[in-house]
Amino acid sequence: MVLLGKDVSSQTNWVLANLQPAGIRAFNNQIASIPHLIKLTVGEPDLKTPLSVKVAATMSIWRNHSHYSAAAGILSLRQAVAAFMVKTQQVDYDPATEIITTVGSTEGLAAAIMAAFNPGDQVIVPTPAYPLYIPMLKFVGAQPVSVNTAPERFKLTALRLDEELRQHPNVRAIILNYPHNPTGITYSAQEMRALAQVIRAHHLIAIADEIYGQLTYNHSHVSLARFIPERTIVVTGLSKSHAMTGYRVGAVVGPQDLMREIAKLHSYLVTAPSNPAQYAAVQAYRDERAVKGARSRYYKRQQFLTAALTAMDISYIQPRGAFYLFMRVPERYGTDDRKFALKLAYQAGVGCIPGQIFGPGGEGYVRLSYATQLSQIKKAMGRLKDFIGRNEYLN
Ligand SMILES: Cc1ncc(COP(=O)(O)O)c(C=O)c1O
Repeated sequence: MVLLGKDVSSQTNWVLANLQPAGIRAFNNQIASIPHLIKLTVGEPDLKTPLSVKVAATMSIWRNHSHYSAAAGILSLRQAVAAFMVKTQQVDYDPATEIITTVGSTEGLAAAIMAAFNPGDQVIVPTPAYPLYIPMLKFVGAQPVSVNTAPERFKLTALRLDEELRQHPNVRAIILNYPHNPTGITYSAQEMRALAQVIRAHHLIAIADEIYGQLTYNHSHVSLARFIPERTIVVTGLSKSHAMTGYRVGAVVGPQDLMREIAKLHSYLVTAPSNPAQYAAVQAYRDERAVKGARSRYYKRQQFLTAALTAMDISYIQPRGAFYLFMRVPERYGTDDRKFALKLAYQAGVGCIPGQIFGPGGEGYVRLSYATQLSQIKKAMGRLKDFIGRNEYLN
């Protein structure tokens, strides 16, 4: 064991020292040792990475792609991302200057936040939210302005955004995530257009976290970039759609002037993502069959889950994308979602994430991930039913 010298013991970043470690993993670890626990906790696809993607990664090693790629990433991957954006959103980005490839979408988000904001900048974060945005904003000294979307069933409406911006006239930007973690909501073209109008009218820039963009059910994904590309930074990737979380590859696209700065920071942070991951990603963009397959499997699970909860008379937010379902804690258990999640884990052997971990508005809910085999989900719902039955007279 190596102990830090007493004379240097306070020499860490003081902003970081006041930030909490990621709550999802901490809760997941807290319950992980419960015997026979069915984990509907983490957002980690259970599906296998498509074979063609694995082959592409392996071939990259055999072809001796052993040296640094361009900091912005290999050109063929930037071109694949550009083609994807044209095909899905009809927005044309220049692979030379408007796209970089990143180490997962996480590095893309970090680079975008660090490059775009200054200390004191106010940034709207609709909550509940993926727990990375607020610590990252605080780390750069920006001020997150949380907007609790629970009253509007977790959708930020254009009207609400406009009201908030009138109350906070110094807000410079917004971070939007859709399809959404943890609620599974997303926005229609009409809703997105209305949000875009408000964002433009208030002269904001937007970071659009679209990591779940390929996982929408019975409707297509609409990017904010379709309406306001001149002020939108899109963070995207294949971690979820192609079960590639461990490859650590993603991309950021946006207007040239912003991308120049993001690219600069990205090169300071990581130089470039690894070559095998980038070549694998090129192949993943080609493999549409794999996404279709994943989408239909997740959808089947979602349908099972929603039917099971409806039969138990448990309310939830109807998911439209990603692989999460936001379930209301049944009234008789009170409103402490953490207590409920612990009880469910210890007494029923079902693991889920307390909604409060995702910030204001998440209280009273738990997040169930259906990136888990259907047989496990079925078993989990059986356990939940027994658990609820056992506690029928609880007050
Ligand atoms: C909303 C959201 N954004 C970003 C990420 C990070 O994805 P990646 O694995 O590509 O870094 C996640 C992962 O759970 C997420 O849920």
